[in-house]
Amino acid sequence: MSGLGLSLDAARIEAMAGDLATSGYAVAALALDPHLTAALRLEAEALASDPLAIDAGVGRGTDHSRVQKIRQSRIKWLDGSTSDQSKFLAAAEEIRIALNRRLLLGLFEFEAQLALYEPGGFYARHVDSFTGARNRMVSMITYLTPDWQATDGGELAIWRDRNDTADAPAAIIQPAAGTLVLMLSEDIPHEVRVAHRRRASIAGWWRVRVA
Ligand code: OGA
Ligand code: MN
Repeated sequence: MSGLGLSLDAARIEAMAGDLATSGYAVAALALDPHLTAALRLEAEALASDPLAIDAGVGRGTDHSRVQKIRQSRIKWLDGSTSDQSKFLAAAEEIRIALNRRLLLGLFEFEAQLALYEPGGFYARHVDSFTGARNRMVSMITYLTPDWQATDGGELAIWRDRNDTADAPAAIIQPAAGTLVLMLSEDIPHEVRVAHRRRASIAGWWRVRVA
């Protein structure tokens, strides 16, 4: 049984927990309620003209003429200020409880951001947490843009672990509305390939309580 925000039943959440434990990541299609997905998409698309949204362009290194960017997207932290954000946070809470029960991870705090990638937006290969920092433990990505086509780009590419330097990723996931991805934040390198169409998503992370 699951709440209104999730289209995942207990068995599918269990299966995701199992995949997370064995592979370090898990993917489920049609995991978020379609009405909630549509409403959150509108919130994400509003970032385009929201002066409070942050331009998440992370520069790395200086190369005299230009700053190499590893990321280009607009983000805004969820704060539960709309009923749809609250529903989403309640859905994340269900997943947290299931993961803790199944994997004894001790996931504690959740934080998440709406993200909008305009055409040309991307996020180069990275991991979400530094090893041993016990900061972000599990990452959760949800996609919000309907009718995503293979030609729209913007795929999530995932590698098996940090030592996996192969050009070819272990998995390539289409950012189709309602798809939900879990990853071990310290272990799984991933990237967002260049989107050719506006791409709306939510990226969230659970932290563990540190003494
Ligand atoms: C992130 C991230 C992946 C995606 O925000 O850290 O990796 O598919 N997002 O949006
Ligand atoms: Mn990431």
